[in-house]
Amino acid sequence: MNAVQDQSRARASRYMHWAKTRSRARFNLATSGLANLKLQELQVSLDDLEITGESGYGYPPLIQALADRYHVDTGCVVTAAGTSFANHLALAALINPGDEILLESPAYEPLLTLAHYLGAEVKRFQRPFEDGFRISPSEIERNMSPRTRLIVITNFHNPTGVLTDDDTLKEIGELAKKRNARVLVDEVYLQMLFAERPRTAFNLGNQFIVTSSLTKAFGLSGLRCGWILAEPELANNMWLLNDLFAATPVHAGERLSVVALKQLSSIADRAQIRLDRNRQLLNQFLDTRDDLETIRPSFGSIMFPRVREASSETLCHLLREKYETSVVPGRFFELPARDFGEWELRSMKLACNGPRLLFGLIQRQSQMLLGPKDCKLVARP
Ligand SMILES: Cc1ncc(COP(=O)(O)O)c(C=O)c1O
Repeated sequence: MNAVQDQSRARASRYMHWAKTRSRARFNLATSGLANLKLQELQVSLDDLEITGESGYGYPPLIQALADRYHVDTGCVVTAAGTSFANHLALAALINPGDEILLESPAYEPLLTLAHYLGAEVKRFQRPFEDGFRISPSEIERNMSPRTRLIVITNFHNPTGVLTDDDTLKEIGELAKKRNARVLVDEVYLQMLFAERPRTAFNLGNQFIVTSSLTKAFGLSGLRCGWILAEPELANNMWLLNDLFAATPVHAGERLSVVALKQLSSIADRAQIRLDRNRQLLNQFLDTRDDLETIRPSFGSIMFPRVREASSETLCHLLREKYETSVVPGRFFELPARDFGEWELRSMKLACNGPRLLFGLIQRQSQMLLGPKDCKLVARP
């Protein structure tokens, strides 16, 4: 890569910067993780922790706990700081600069930016609102070329929360296999299915690599317990590559992650109750709105409504200024540029952090009216 190209490389995520500096609000619906679990809610003693330990290529008890959770060989597990770093490590190990990859649209912006940062030639396939944001394997096939090295998807999909079923994933796997390509599936939200043995595309064939973490579904964001599942040779390559990045994990974090994994089923129960309750509230709220059009996912914590006859920038501004509420604007998902006539597809991630939070939105938002003619938002008297 020459110096000019190098300067045009993405070196920051606009979305992450916004999320860290601008999303805070009294009613923060811009975050997709469960409300944070407090340390005192974990049954942990100081004896469980240590500052330094055996974690050169991962702390064996943590690797074992993750392998047990997925019923896979320990050689398939690579740990990383959150799904974010798992994605970075996986992509860096899978592609070389100039490689062609196929990535869903709309997409989680940091994944897209990361692919650009790593020098990939990024092609896209659409997940249209009209198809319920589903993935169409034939759309993927149409967009593949003999140069496609990797297909990248999120499941559940960020930003829409839509689940991709195993049959569709298998079809995608077959397409990849035929062309000697691989499939990377970010499963961070799939954890919100909360089964003892989590569902994963990793079981569908060697061409699948998956990334995930405990960060979103369990309120354990600060632990940064993330992982990659990959066939052993590839997993080993990732560990070796990690020597150039993070080198050695934070051992106290690894120890605490083992403790959390042992208590995961009760942590999951708490999360499930919250999400179910909030989904019910959200659906009741949506039933009363004809100014929002939504695909309503049955699981998870995010959704992606269309705002009828107004821009989401205006809506986001109004929500923030008048209703102390933050949601993620659609511009972070590449959608404002698309022409939907009077309609625009916009993001409103609804993080189900607690009934009060959602009630806040419901009570506040239900006082709003979207003006049909001038596309302005006005408050009801
Ligand atoms: C699809 C997706 N992957 C990864 C992440 C980052 O996860 P983590 O906090 O585990 O790094 C997010 C966060 O919103 C996400 O939506």
